[in-house]
Amino acid sequence: MPEADEKKEKNFYPEIQQKNRAFFLKGSNNFDWGMKNRLSHIFNPDTGKTVMLAIDHGYFQGPTTGLERIDITILPLLKYSDTLMLTRGILRSIIPPTYPNGIVLRASGGPSILKELSNEQIAMDIEDAIRLNAAAVAVQVFIGGEYETQTVCNMTKLVDMAQRYGIGVLGVTAVGKEMVRDAKYMRLACRICAELGATYVKTYYVEPDFETVTASCPVPIVIAGGKKIPEFDALKMAYNAIQKGACGVDMGKNIFQAENPVAMIQAVRMVVHKNFTPEQAYEYYCEQIKKRDKS
Ligand code: R5P
Repeated sequence: MPEADEKKEKNFYPEIQQKNRAFFLKGSNNFDWGMKNRLSHIFNPDTGKTVMLAIDHGYFQGPTTGLERIDITILPLLKYSDTLMLTRGILRSIIPPTYPNGIVLRASGGPSILKELSNEQIAMDIEDAIRLNAAAVAVQVFIGGEYETQTVCNMTKLVDMAQRYGIGVLGVTAVGKEMVRDAKYMRLACRICAELGATYVKTYYVEPDFETVTASCPVPIVIAGGKKIPEFDALKMAYNAIQKGACGVDMGKNIFQAENPVAMIQAVRMVVHKNFTPEQAYEYYCEQIKKRDKS
């Protein structure tokens, strides 16, 4: 029987060519649809940037200051994050499954702060990442560390597993205490992660020459916040990183240990997504503190 639709006039727009659009994210154009869709749940397609909220610290250091009660201190921040980076234990036990954005699951672990930190192994099965609808998995890579090769191989094994299902891999450059944190080291570590298949890389902001770290890494770079510093300094670091080619922040302590974490994550968003200067964003932050104190 002919379809009823055949009676309607059709328009095939033969004069308009279908467009081939390049994917918005650096180095990611050749991925399949599923991977690109997942990456769009980490990076905002409108700005190409991300504010990842990192709360995975407990995987090696237990109940970190500010994360003692994630249900109380972190849930109010979720609506301001583009992505959450965390362990599957916290995801399952505390985070509402209605969280609409990307999940980046901590997938390596083993040693606690009491042992050699670079002695990590893969600490989850890719099946569980699929079950939890992860957009990406995160793995620590200790270039120059005691277990350098083991951690590089953890990453390449995860890349092989995750790539099969269109899940991203975040290579996290972990800098041992004895290493010099400079652009030369970061270029080395980030480039190794990218060459060996990381979908994107997390590193620390360094001066001078951070732009050489981002330029020589063929995939997006996000910066970790690192140790807690004054709020204005953290905003300035985020601003400088973005101006020098970073695609966002993966920030933990400098948000959840701030005097006002809700205001701080909003101020970070302004710097990352709206090109606010650190001064403008800090002004907003201070206004929020004043409002809170009056109420
Ligand atoms: C290590 O503790 C974790 O991978 C963190 O996610 C990462 O260091 C980012 O957090 P923070 O901004 O506190 O350094």
